[in-house]
Amino acid sequence: MGDLVLDVITRLPAKIIEIHRGTDTVTALSPCPGGAAANTARWLARLGADVHFISRVGKDALGQALLSDLAAQKIKTYVTQDAKHSTGTIVALVEPDGERSMLIGPAAHFFLDKTDVSLKAFVGAKLVYLSGYLFFRDRPRRAALHALELARKNKALIAIDPASAGLLAQFGAKRFLRLILGTDILLANLEEARLLAQALSPKLRLRHHQTHRKILNAVDEASQLMEALLETFSIVGLKLGSAGCMCAMKINKTLPESNLSPAVFARKGVWRAHIPAKKIRVVDSTGCGDAWNAAFLHYLLKGAHLEQAAVEANDLAAQVLRHTGAVSLWEQLFVKGRVRRSSIS
Ligand SMILES: Nc1ncnc2c1ncn2[C@@H]1O[C@H](COP(=O)(O)OP(=O)(O)OP(=O)(O)O)[C@@H](O)[C@H]1O
Ligand SMILES: [Mg+2]
Repeated sequence: MGDLVLDVITRLPAKIIEIHRGTDTVTALSPCPGGAAANTARWLARLGADVHFISRVGKDALGQALLSDLAAQKIKTYVTQDAKHSTGTIVALVEPDGERSMLIGPAAHFFLDKTDVSLKAFVGAKLVYLSGYLFFRDRPRRAALHALELARKNKALIAIDPASAGLLAQFGAKRFLRLILGTDILLANLEEARLLAQALSPKLRLRHHQTHRKILNAVDEASQLMEALLETFSIVGLKLGSAGCMCAMKINKTLPESNLSPAVFARKGVWRAHIPAKKIRVVDSTGCGDAWNAAFLHYLLKGAHLEQAAVEANDLAAQVLRHTGAVSLWEQLFVKGRVRRSSIS
């Protein structure tokens, strides 16, 4: 559940002076289906999962086109068409090194309402995935809290990605954690994990301050943060950019069985693994984290080893990083067989 929007991905010229101020500049512009939650939903469906998606778009041609795209991917949609607000558009400015910045405007997805959360979408659900963006605005937050209640009633696992370190810091990590209490699976990047772990464990902050002179690399830091996060979440996937990812789980009978390989090591009743990233040339990082989430959750639910799920997640993220857009070119990727449907049953 979360946002469904259009991304307009803009490749910025190498030098800003190459933009002809006051007149036209020709550069690569790619309109692509987007929205953090919708990206994850699309990839989950591509991987073979049965996906139900809750969102809000405008009652306009763009909203209709995005809905048709989801339907074509066999995603069951529970999407309200808002007559007052238009469908969201996000402008992503991609620099020559692949780094991207987003320009976001208020639109229909800012107004997702509790009444948009259809009970039907939860019946028989194994897992409910909520985008963290939902929690940062009043109306979507009420909708998200209602979705959490329905997920618990239906005994579904709950997975959340905080989505934005900037908005999380503004909103308050402690407040966020209070709201998502009872979440089973946390999927976060290093910056988001740092904010949450520090809010959970003031001691960790102390240790962190004591070692601030020593440059902690991403993997060392992730190990430290993991200890604090596993006090609250049963499974944690930390996305570490070019350093890959780290995943861990508490041994817990309510979670899918996991035959862990020797590469994963046990510590205090916890299984943990670091999986390095693929060595690739990054073209556009839009949506790589969303794709990572989809593959990780899909393979985990299929009963894969935690480590295997993470390898698949890194692989899918790498495919997205090699191309413009969060989900564009997926047809070609499937045709070429570079992304396969789940082989685990
Ligand atoms: N430079 C890179 N080289 C190789 N793989 C990368 C690179 N950057 C990211 N990845 C892969 O993508 C995954 C997700 O990226 P990242 O850690 O940036 O998460 P994120 O911040 O949630 O992403 P997003 O910006 O989409 O929200 C990483 O775990 C890694 O597998
Ligand atoms: Mg992210």
